[in-house]
Amino acid sequence: MIALGSDHGGFALKQEIKAFLDSRGIAYEDFGTYTEESCDYPKYAQLACDAVVSGKCEKAILCCGTGIGISIAANKIKGIRAALCSDYFSAKYTRLHNDANVLCMGGRTIGPGLALELVDVFLHTEFEGGRHQRRIDQITELENRG
Ligand code: RB5
Repeated sequence: MIALGSDHGGFALKQEIKAFLDSRGIAYEDFGTYTEESCDYPKYAQLACDAVVSGKCEKAILCCGTGIGISIAANKIKGIRAALCSDYFSAKYTRLHNDANVLCMGGRTIGPGLALELVDVFLHTEFEGGRHQRRIDQITELENRG
């Protein structure tokens, strides 16, 4: 199950992503926003990321205008490794090397064609582990500092 979230700036892209996931038979839950009315992205980062942390969803995809605000908010949540991506290589390697569990994109910065390529590779690339696990563990230690 994939968690989806966006503010108004990412709403249209989230709709494209839902159509893509439907076409691939990939299950998702849309945590909002559900209209183009102006709203605050931290709320939707929290709703979608909480579903990842709880184990209800395996990954999340978040969109705002630039992808920046919602990625900053997501990375404040313990257990979340959110990657803001606008190129294929980064979307692939953030799975291989960072075990990112959240993909963030900007609805006003990249087109839907590229965005769906990023979604596809992000969802279908496995973490490599090995030396990268050590680095993830170090990130977790940072997260656990008082
Ligand atoms: C909303 O206008 C915009 O600030 C938001 O979507 C996002 O780009 C913030 O980082």
